[in-house]
Amino acid sequence: MEAKTAKLLDGKALANKIQQELSAAITQLQPQIGRPPGLAVLMVGDNPASAAYVRGKERACQKVGIASFGKHFPTQTTQAELEEVIAALNYDERVDGILVQLPLPNHLDAVALLHQIVPDKDVDGLHPVNLGRLVRGEPGLRSCTPAGIMRLLQEYAIPLRGKHAVVVGRSILVGKPLALMLLEADATVTVAHSRSHSLESITTNADILIAAVGRPEFMTADMVKPGAVVVDVGINRVIDSSGNSRIVGDVHFESTVGVAEFLTPVPGGVGPMTVAILLQNTVNSYSQRSHR
Ligand SMILES: NC(=O)c1ccc[n+]([C@@H]2O[C@H](COP(=O)([O-])OP(=O)(O)OC[C@H]3O[C@@H](n4cnc5c(N)ncnc54)[C@H](OP(=O)(O)O)[C@@H]3O)[C@@H](O)[C@H]2O)c1
Repeated sequence: MEAKTAKLLDGKALANKIQQELSAAITQLQPQIGRPPGLAVLMVGDNPASAAYVRGKERACQKVGIASFGKHFPTQTTQAELEEVIAALNYDERVDGILVQLPLPNHLDAVALLHQIVPDKDVDGLHPVNLGRLVRGEPGLRSCTPAGIMRLLQEYAIPLRGKHAVVVGRSILVGKPLALMLLEADATVTVAHSRSHSLESITTNADILIAAVGRPEFMTADMVKPGAVVVDVGINRVIDSSGNSRIVGDVHFESTVGVAEFLTPVPGGVGPMTVAILLQNTVNSYSQRSHR
């Protein structure tokens, strides 16, 4: 008998489709609005992973027709200098989205900078106003990674209503907003974290299991209910036995693929969706701001 394997949730293909739709929407809107959408990604220091993410975002912007107003600052840039830049971008009519690439060097207060971004340009959806809108179920800019996961589940018509969704991880970037989005979609939601007891007894009850832990291949097949939908948010760089570096998720793919019904690959699952939603948020902000 042939071994069962999970169907892969192809975030790369869906992200490409969303980018094509955004590109068409921009072509249509631009003559009325008189300018392209604009996104400013601010990066401080020389963290190589952050630099790669920023390059990826700028390439994606170029592909769909979003103008980049990104700025790369040296490590020693002060809080006051960055506040001044954000204040100017808040007023800049060409800019629809502002994003501060995290992590920042230790001397900088990331939360204070985030609070300074005007909520309507907060395309990362991390400003307290946008998080508050999410809690209340009001429209607003939603955090990119969780919104990307929801869009991916929707694309594959995965039912959420009444299902038990377990989110492992409670960060403000992923776990918490995702739990709220799943709740809004009528799932019964459990959030687990590093202080949860008997994690396996929680995760094996999940119809939908989300791993946002930040630990390479942490979630193994024995922690997964047969037939579950497993979403792997993790992006971890590891060095294998032959000394080569590669990216793995928070889920042990090789074992889980034989147990789950649906599974996101890493790379090519949640990562591209995060960028696609960032572009989508920028275009939404563009069309809304121009209608005011
Ligand atoms: N694909 C994407 O676009 C994307 C975007 C963002 C992040 N990521 C990746 O997703 C992962 C999570 O990111 P994050 O920003 O949410 O990380 P984070 O801020 O470090 O949060 C990790 C969460 O996992 C929990 N955790 C850690 N060890 C655990 C354990 N042994 N058992 C149960 N829970 C445990 C932590 O619990 P406590 O709260 O108790 O400490 C915390 O809530 C990382 O690999 C990151 O690189 C990917």
